Amino acid sequence: TRRITVRDITAAKERGEKWPMLTAYDAMTASVFDEAGIPVMLVGDSAGNCHLGYETTVPVTMDEMTMLSAAVVRGTSRALIVGDLPFGSYQEGPVQALRSATRLVKEAGVGAVKLEGGERSHRQIELLVESGIPVMAHIGLTPQSVNAMGYRVQGRGEEAAHQLLRDAKAVQDAGAFAVVLELVPAELAAEVTRTLHIPTVGIGAGAETDAQVLVWTDMLGLTGGRMPKFVKQYADLRRVMGDAAKAFAEDVVGGTFPLEEHSVH
Ligand code: KIV
Ligand code: NA
Repeated sequence: TRRITVRDITAAKERGEKWPMLTAYDAMTASVFDEAGIPVMLVGDSAGNCHLGYETTVPVTMDEMTMLSAAVVRGTSRALIVGDLPFGSYQEGPVQALRSATRLVKEAGVGAVKLEGGERSHRQIELLVESGIPVMAHIGLTPQSVNAMGYRVQGRGEEAAHQLLRDAKAVQDAGAFAVVLELVPAELAAEVTRTLHIPTVGIGAGAETDAQVLVWTDMLGLTGGRMPKFVKQYADLRRVMGDAAKAFAEDVVGGTFPLEEHSVH
């Protein structure tokens, strides 16, 4: 079996098929999702909050993204792996973006990269695509700009809606193969999805986008704390893992682990 490519993703929109994307930050988790048939995995810089213990995605480095992306590529054989470009690795301009993206492609083996920003990132997207690196864009709420915009719904009001549509067209014109719409009113995300010929990947963007993405630790109930409204929790891994850790601790303290069957002589 060969890996899914960006051309398969383009063809899915032409056929009107919806598809799921999950984040992954390590080989083992990625292998579970690969075996489950998740076609696209994002090594998101959400690893900052969800894997590395930072408060935001802002401190995540290229070294970290390269290491995590390489692990996810090694853990999978079928999914298209998209590596996120972290804050500061592409804002200086197209040449810096190409240097960073090339690292994720050559050292980690990703099949595509993602970066944040619409009109403001179109030159970066153009050079990457010209150079043979598929790009997933990301507009609406862009968490790397948290210090400037906070974590608020984007595209509310007429002017903001027009800007979002301009951003969507800008990334499509620059050659992006797909675009993430984060925390955007459902009606506006539906309009963007109808307007573009490239697939939209929604998170908190309603039901009409071509694809849906969730952060895996949120989706499986591992993150803990209050979840945003748009998250659906499909499992309660935090409880499962906590209960298992407590049971192990009790066994050790109480002398009921290991038993004879766990021992060698
Ligand atoms: O880093 C990430 O997980 C993301 C998705 C939420 C789209 O950018
Ligand atoms: Na991200």
